Amino acid sequence: MNLADNLSGLENLIGNSPLYKCTGPGAVYAKLEYHNLMGSIKDRPALYILKNAIARGLVGPESTVIESTSGNFGIALAGICNRLGLKFIPVVDPNITEEKAAVLRMLSWKVVKVEERDETGGFLLNRIREVQRLVKTVPGAFNPNQYENDDNYLCYYHTLGREINNNFGRLDHVFVSVSSGGTITGLSMRLKEKFPRLKIIAVDVEGSLIFSDKPAVRRLSGLGSSMRTAMIDKALIDEAMVLSQWDIVQGCHSLLKEQNILGGASAGAVFRAMQLFNEKYHINNGGNINLLIIPDNGSAYMNSIYNETWVKANIQNIHHEVHK
Ligand SMILES: Cc1ncc(COP(=O)(O)O)c(C=O)c1O
Repeated sequence: MNLADNLSGLENLIGNSPLYKCTGPGAVYAKLEYHNLMGSIKDRPALYILKNAIARGLVGPESTVIESTSGNFGIALAGICNRLGLKFIPVVDPNITEEKAAVLRMLSWKVVKVEERDETGGFLLNRIREVQRLVKTVPGAFNPNQYENDDNYLCYYHTLGREINNNFGRLDHVFVSVSSGGTITGLSMRLKEKFPRLKIIAVDVEGSLIFSDKPAVRRLSGLGSSMRTAMIDKALIDEAMVLSQWDIVQGCHSLLKEQNILGGASAGAVFRAMQLFNEKYHINNGGNINLLIIPDNGSAYMNSIYNETWVKANIQNIHHEVHK
């Protein structure tokens, strides 16, 4: 069986994620992306990028896939590479949760961890430098490069965006967390074709350099970045909201208690962002149809976001320091 045939067996299990109707006023829907095969929204670009790379002859049976990842993209690539019999090297940093690191260790050929912070105070720039170094030295290296590869955002245009357009007759607000910007770019392009008056709200974390120029230590993974990719300039964003890490953790806890959704940091962030947005504009969601994109599940964050001691030591005390 060739690589492309092997991929087709995965396609039914990535995409077409369920829509969950939240309780409370108005109509709030959550697109549960953790139902994808390897557990996150990043299964979509991993499949799309590898499929195109195979079709273009950039990846073959002898290739080694190498990518910088905060966890989910790595797990998605690792799962697909494992199925295809390809070697995979994720380049991660200390912010990765132990749960995600354990999965990567089992599925990857080798895990490389960057320990030193870069000039922005984050790890991303050093992770990318390490990938560039490995690509030069590992024979048959292929770097999906989620930060610069147009297939990252095109994947969301062709899959997630199409699904949502087919599911809704009306949409007022969509809340999307941002890191590489692939999701918000492809999604906003596709959704605004059908819903030109829709408001796209980008959600980021304090200390990230996507919508702000004030770096700070971030302890939550998933959303946020030490750099703004060029593709974000193509995104059709109506408002960007930058939340504190404390607000995001509170968002995770209330999303679980109020909606039975155990989400990762970016899930809590979009939920909290919707609450703050409604407060800011004095709307109660009454007549609105809103959508939250839930990128991953909280089970990988039981020792952090959902652990009281960790939250106190890593988020709460710092928040009170910075915001007093
Ligand atoms: C949990 C989670 N949330 C949000 C994002 C942001 O998505 P994007 O890179 O498409 O901007 C990611 C990307 O890695 C993620 O893993």
